[in-house]
Amino acid sequence: MPGDLDYKGYLKLDQLLQLQQPLADPPSHDETLFIVVHQVFELWFRLLLHEIDKIFALLDDGDVIESERLMRRLTSIVRLFIPKLSVLETMLPSDFIQFRDRLKPASGFQSVQFREIEFASGLKDRRYFGMFKGDAEATARLERRFAEPAMWDHFVGLLKRQGYNVEGEESQRRSIVSIYNREGDHALRILCEAMIEYDEMFSLWREHHVRMAQRMIGSKPGTGQATVESTYGKPSAMGSMGVDYLTQTLTKKFFPILWAARTEM
Ligand code: HEM
Repeated sequence: MPGDLDYKGYLKLDQLLQLQQPLADPPSHDETLFIVVHQVFELWFRLLLHEIDKIFALLDDGDVIESERLMRRLTSIVRLFIPKLSVLETMLPSDFIQFRDRLKPASGFQSVQFREIEFASGLKDRRYFGMFKGDAEATARLERRFAEPAMWDHFVGLLKRQGYNVEGEESQRRSIVSIYNREGDHALRILCEAMIEYDEMFSLWREHHVRMAQRMIGSKPGTGQATVESTYGKPSAMGSMGVDYLTQTLTKKFFPILWAARTEM
């Protein structure tokens, strides 16, 4: 009965708090920190995907105001990622090394939800499928995100229905610039700002993550090394692993046309 539901039952805390199970032998104090921080990230990733799907529906309905409000929610979540990494940065490299070997080849690189967020936000890259070969559920999730329209497609669809010319990237960029004109659509302008802010915040997280990785492991290979190699083919094609790989991701942008339009404003 609903009346019987208490805090613990509603949040399924008994199950949730059973899920932190360190592997290091002998035990390593900071492994619990490492597990909790990663699990918390995955929960936030789950929420991001939930919000992204809602934004897609709102954009398709032409609801600019609500899309903008939830877009700002995405940014608020991603903004939280940055100080959360600082919690992990209280760990010493020498403490991390005590349990790091047990992680191989597990790495945030293998986070399906992270890749779903990238795909849904516009960064679709088939090379990332390689590492999920043995995982049918993960592959199906990624296939769905890969096939579905991404954030930019939903946004461009909304512009088209409002009469903007969006045939090709050149027209899209010009339409964005016109939205920023004094007589342009105010609500759309605010939505564009919310989108670029989400994109910017994500880049800032990438930046902090690579610095943190460097601080923790220097130029050692990442724990996802084997999968990076099988995903990207020869390391020489994509640079070396670990921090070098992460550095290459720093130029990624969800909405390159929004960024390109800034030059013309
Ligand atoms: C001690 C802390 C951490 C270190 C040293 C670290 C290191 C790395 C390295 C070296 C990579 C590149 C792939 C590889 O070589 O394995 C990577 C990828 C990644 N890590 Fe971390 N990481 C840490 C914490 C975290 C946390 C807390 C998260 C949150 C979920 C995270 C999420 C990711 C993601 C999503 C990727 C893939 C990035 C991309 O492909 O653009 N990492 N990490």
